[in-house]
Amino acid sequence: MSNMYSDGLIEEVLERNDIIDVISEYVNLKRTGNNYKALCPFHKEKTPSFVVSQDKQLYHCFGCGAAGNTLNFIMHIENLDFIDALEILAERANIDITQYRGKSFDQKKIDKRKKLYEINREAALYFYKNLITRKNDGLKYFKSRGLSVDIIKKFGLGYAIDDWESLNRYLLDKDFDQELIYEAGLVIKRKDNKGYYDRFRNRVIFPIISPTKKVIGFGGRVLDDSVPKYLNSPESSIFSKGSVLYGLNLARSELGDKKRIIVVEGYTDVISLYQNGIRNVVATLGTAFTKNHGQLLKRYCDEVIIAFDSDTAGEAATLRGLDILEEIGCKVKVLRFDNDMDPDEYIRHYGSQVLKEKIEKALPLVDYKIELLKNNYNLETNEGKIDFIKESINILKSLKSSVERNIYITKVSEMADVPSNVIKSEIYGNNRDKKYKNRFYKDKSNSFTNNKYYNKQKLKPVKKIEKNGSYEIEKKIISLSLRSKTKYHKINSMINPDDFINDKLKNIYNFLGNYYKNNEKLNLDLVIDNLDIEESKLISEILHSNFTYDDFDKTLEELIISLERFKIDNEIYSTKKEIKILEMKENKEEGDVNRIKELCGKLIELEKKLMNMRVN
Ligand code: UTP
Ligand code: MN
Repeated sequence: MSNMYSDGLIEEVLERNDIIDVISEYVNLKRTGNNYKALCPFHKEKTPSFVVSQDKQLYHCFGCGAAGNTLNFIMHIENLDFIDALEILAERANIDITQYRGKSFDQKKIDKRKKLYEINREAALYFYKNLITRKNDGLKYFKSRGLSVDIIKKFGLGYAIDDWESLNRYLLDKDFDQELIYEAGLVIKRKDNKGYYDRFRNRVIFPIISPTKKVIGFGGRVLDDSVPKYLNSPESSIFSKGSVLYGLNLARSELGDKKRIIVVEGYTDVISLYQNGIRNVVATLGTAFTKNHGQLLKRYCDEVIIAFDSDTAGEAATLRGLDILEEIGCKVKVLRFDNDMDPDEYIRHYGSQVLKEKIEKALPLVDYKIELLKNNYNLETNEGKIDFIKESINILKSLKSSVERNIYITKVSEMADVPSNVIKSEIYGNNRDKKYKNRFYKDKSNSFTNNKYYNKQKLKPVKKIEKNGSYEIEKKIISLSLRSKTKYHKINSMINPDDFINDKLKNIYNFLGNYYKNNEKLNLDLVIDNLDIEESKLISEILHSNFTYDDFDKTLEELIISLERFKIDNEIYSTKKEIKILEMKENKEEGDVNRIKELCGKLIELEKKLMNMRVN
């Protein structure tokens, strides 16, 4: 962990907070055999698939794949970072954390952050009171934008009166330090360095609140058309615009079944949509959509809908941010508004029902990118078509699922009015239809060592299915076995359980064999009850890995070949190692020399085997 605390603290915290006690505070656990079961607190479900093991002090959900120990649970359910979760659990078990403070534990820094939060909180209250307790231009402004008093309260909106020092005086009266008020960004130093004046004057105020409900900064809008339209708190140790999303404190508990968040550009878009019943909305703070935004969102939701102005949504920086979001596993869609309207204008013009329908029809990111390209080129001309297809191919190539890729190939071909084969050959080159000529069956007489297709001149590397070695390959084989009894039998006719290198996966495979003897279909409940928690965790990981394929037989064959190849690679490695050790021996005995000869022979056989596995 960070150097804030020494490692012993984690162990003590885990030892003294029993997972069953902690989780029982959030969900209703029922004992089943060795484990406890409950409805998962992290996703909606009707039958329990959330399992907790007291022996292992781990939890895991079959339905959504959530898993971990007591600390992970608290982080997840309370949306806390690691250190916060650690401190909370330490307190729960009455552990004195001061004795665990490490090198970089800096009490002063922590105290300062606390003070900055307090100052911001006081300032927010002050702005709020200005707005609510007397007649003022701020309230008039918000009313003119159709905001209700309830919504003003919900978002803690405020007003900074037209005065140069009122907030500063107010905070000094509350005994806050001038230097800290400055660091919070609420005041600006006078040019002559003599004193300070309020940053926000005669502006309506939007406090920016973190998901853990701390006021970390402010946005202030003018009441008319003057510029700058918005002023924001400057960057500080508690506020960094590129990693903050306005409204996440409220949106986080409004995600719905689809675990979806809509990202807009403006403060007022968030508030207006919220008031009109679309509450899963957040805004960036006038910056590009960043990787940090993506990672933050991923902690809360599975699907993100981007509702930016058309210019911003098409910017390279934004597109990069969106790609990252997809890479880390969020579904990304893009919503477009006509006539340059922003979401606030749109919902006020068309109403929330129309917007809700529009949200359901948001374009998947790929479609959006292709649409963008289409608008960039004139598809009436050959030149335009060629450029459009060239650019599209980069997008198509990046698609991981071949089903998806095929669908979009057809789409692009229709858009450009070019046969899809042309696009396919651009993507795959000319080799795509060549089949594997080697077959590897359990029946060794037909294995690759005596393969008649072996031809040295045509050596090409074997198609690599996985980089991560046998484990990923074996997981995919299990994934195929889980699909149906028939598929399992097909697989079982081609491999032995002992072909599995990973023991847990081998256990699962054996379990499935017994299971399919008595059952036709997979029943997750039975699986949970019969496997240990680590194994069921693995199954759930496999079920969530979204492994797809076009052709079952071909995929299976490729997986089996890869697995065999991996084993041979391993054997080659250890043989070479043994040879090297023997060769380095200073006084070799006759036995050593013979062994080296023997190993070299083996090496040649192995290399041959490997070569025979290559594709023609
Ligand atoms: P917009 O101008 O689209 O905001 O800028 P808006 O919320 O729709 O504004 P109005 O009140 O309806 O006219 C989008 C966001 O960009 C940031 C703010 O965070 C704003 O919400 N911004 C904009 C600034 O930081 N400074 C500016 O001067 C303008
Ligand atoms: Mn607006």
